[in-house]
Amino acid sequence: MPDAVIRHGDKELTLPTYVGTEGETAVDIGKLRTEMGMVTLDKGFGNTAEGHSTVSYIDGESGILRYRGYSIEQLAESATFLEVAYLLQYGELPNKAELESYVEAITLHTLLREDVKHLFEAFPNTAHPMQILASATSALATYYPDALDPLDADAVDISSRRLIAKTPTMIAWSYKYSVHQPYVYPDNDLDYSSNFLKMMFSVPAEDYAPDPVLTNALNMLLILHADHGQNCSASAVRLVGSGHANIFSSVAAGIHALSGPLHGGANQAVLEMLEGIYASGEDIDTVVKRAKDKSDPFRLMGFGHRVYKNFDPRARIIKKAAEDVLDALGVDDPLLDIALRLEEVALSDEYFVERNLYPNVDFYSGIIYRAMGFPTDMFTVLFALGRLPGWLAQWRELAADPSTRIFRPRQLYTGEPLRDYVSIEDR
Ligand code: CMC
Repeated sequence: MPDAVIRHGDKELTLPTYVGTEGETAVDIGKLRTEMGMVTLDKGFGNTAEGHSTVSYIDGESGILRYRGYSIEQLAESATFLEVAYLLQYGELPNKAELESYVEAITLHTLLREDVKHLFEAFPNTAHPMQILASATSALATYYPDALDPLDADAVDISSRRLIAKTPTMIAWSYKYSVHQPYVYPDNDLDYSSNFLKMMFSVPAEDYAPDPVLTNALNMLLILHADHGQNCSASAVRLVGSGHANIFSSVAAGIHALSGPLHGGANQAVLEMLEGIYASGEDIDTVVKRAKDKSDPFRLMGFGHRVYKNFDPRARIIKKAAEDVLDALGVDDPLLDIALRLEEVALSDEYFVERNLYPNVDFYSGIIYRAMGFPTDMFTVLFALGRLPGWLAQWRELAADPSTRIFRPRQLYTGEPLRDYVSIEDR
């Protein structure tokens, strides 16, 4: 690949270029400021790669997503979530013995210390689950002071396992507290998804057997959310980690980043939008018209993506799963019909076609979560649970790379030039 050349005034700089595994090219502008006195401007980092990554590959034009080279379709069809968590973090699919030992290690850490309960009880029971999860994740670090050194690979490994093991318990316990039900302890005889569903939905007074339809659907949804390149929350995790903050603090930052409605919070926003349409009886053409109106802040939630300019491959799988799961559970949800109709109208509308706006991962997922019995404000913590192995993999990749530097973007200052302080009497 030939170098790139940039010319400005009478200066010229040759910039090295690199080619990724799948043929993407990158130009390294690292010397631009020292050699040419210029920085690059790239709003929202639409064009900027912070570095190299081997965790996941996205081809937004063709609607392709792969984790460590494996297609998301095959993983969603055949793998377990913990298998994918292993793959993302260690780079290869585990063999039987490796998987058994990984699952055993995760299972060993599912309990939370008893005093962590006080943390959930300190929140009003109307608190948003994402806010609680971020706080609890951050608080978890204080229980493991010996395993926080970001430069100690063993400490990072045990902390990563603790996070994967304890996050379902934190989510379920914060839910139990909010609905005034007793905490349900982890059941280490169950697989990851079944154990989580049991902690969420069982009560001590009754036997509970996880429904395989729900367990399989949850396993598949967690896999589909497990990583997605340098998205907003993964970038937050990496940015915080680049300053050598510990992995719990970095993941807590990722949870906060994920909470916004333009990112993971969209799954809750989609469901609320569908409920609003159902309750008002507003017709779909009017909804789509409003989404196109620039003077109206309303957007079609669950539509559009920075990277995908084609169908989001995750949405394709989740749409089919929504129909199958509702069928298997015998649920007839009018919100699914509204979502299908919205998609149909939007995809044949010039505005959406011209801008390549397709349903994304968040458009149909909430319909499945709702059928499973999750309250709407818990949808985004389910996204966080799925994304956790990806955040950990991204963080660990950065920490292990000797070329990593603290993230410290430049800016183009457009504020006031130097001026004199004016005493308060004279202002
Ligand atoms: N409804 C209506 N118009 C839209 C939408 C939408 N959902 N999304 C983008 N547009 C329009 C936007 O107004 C702009 O139009 P114009 O060119 O006339 O100014 C054009 O499409 C490009 O949009 P953008 O805002 O420049 O795109 P972006 O890459 O900065 O933002 C996005 C991507 C996902 C934030 C945005 O599409 C959006 O707000 N979607 C709704 C929220 C959502 O579903 N978020 C979940 C994203 S996927 C999962 C995740 O990351 O967590």
